[in-house]
Amino acid sequence: MTKGTPDTGKPRRRPRYRGTHPRAFSEKYKEHDPTRFPGERAKVLASGKTPAGSHVAVLVAEVLAALEPRAGDTAVDATLGFGGHSSEILKRILPGGRLLALDVDPIELPKAESRLKALAESLGDAGAVRCVRRNYAGLRKLLESEGLAHGSDVILADLGVSSMQIDDPSRGFSWKHDVPLDLRMNPERGQPAGVLLSRMKKEEIGDFLRRLGDEPEAAGIAAALRETIEARRSEKPIHLLSTSDVAAAVDSAYKGLTSRDASEAKKSSLQRTFQAIRILVNDELAALESFLRDLPHCLAPGGRAAILTFHSGEDRRVKKAFAAGHADGTYAEVSREVVRASPEERHANPRSRPAKLRRAVRAR
Ligand SMILES: C[S@@+](CC[C@H](N)C(=O)[O-])C[C@H]1O[C@@H](n2cnc3c(N)ncnc32)[C@H](O)[C@@H]1O
Repeated sequence: MTKGTPDTGKPRRRPRYRGTHPRAFSEKYKEHDPTRFPGERAKVLASGKTPAGSHVAVLVAEVLAALEPRAGDTAVDATLGFGGHSSEILKRILPGGRLLALDVDPIELPKAESRLKALAESLGDAGAVRCVRRNYAGLRKLLESEGLAHGSDVILADLGVSSMQIDDPSRGFSWKHDVPLDLRMNPERGQPAGVLLSRMKKEEIGDFLRRLGDEPEAAGIAAALRETIEARRSEKPIHLLSTSDVAAAVDSAYKGLTSRDASEAKKSSLQRTFQAIRILVNDELAALESFLRDLPHCLAPGGRAAILTFHSGEDRRVKKAFAAGHADGTYAEVSREVVRASPEERHANPRSRPAKLRRAVRAR
């Protein structure tokens, strides 16, 4: 990727910090180019944290065992993210293989693409990688237009959200920064979560918090959010819901708790609540259902698919689709049990704790 400005071609200087320490996310440089600091990255990884601006891939060895990528294979990574899984797949399908990687995220996709292309070049085949901004719901059509209508040997979907999306405050994914509530993986499409929620009735908010987040205090959180939305209507200009408003709504729904576990209970509720809003805003379950419906057509005979899910609504759908495909002979083999992260991985990367991996093999 060129670092020059479009008009002069000269390298662009990093903006000078206002103080001795960068305060704003936009002033920090490691977050935007984490692979330039491999020593730093290794140190942070060893301390059990995710290096800024990157994402630690989950269950890598298990995903590779499920997918069995071989030299010459065609592979699809339906959720490129930082490219951790893609990099490992690429190393195994070269020489002779080809990797098609998708993501809906217009901010992170070009960065992951340049990392993967550099890897492909270092492995001797710069043309082996193609990255496309696309929703995996449309994978079947994409394969047709890429000349892969006969299907791919390997397909991976690692569902959900990346650490880069959560860590970037401008994207409104986390309660750790007080910013407008957005949560769109593709901020160029649809409406920010703050806008969507402000149009919903209390009952509708409560309903999706229960369905998509399994949130026991859904009614209380919905009532508190609705109150905030109403109060904002009288403000000029109107401020849309912020990430802190959601945190305050959770806080008020759990305010009766006095036990030592109160802060843990609130933290888990915050995670469930943000997850539910994110799934709603990105219409994630509809995309997954469409992907699962088309998956048999996207796999070549004998092709292997692996799907990593992070909550029960996703895993239920994968399990059901794989079982139905096995029963009607579409899949020759499907996982009987889910594969979970080892205690060591759970400790080193807390994101891996809810992960469930399932695999299916297309009949020949
Ligand atoms: C958990 S991350 C993937 C991490 C990746 N496996 C890695 O090793 O870095 C999930 C990614 O999927 C993308 N994503 C989520 N839903 C999508 C969809 N329907 N279509 C395409 N990409 C999607 C997100 O933008 C995010 O970058």
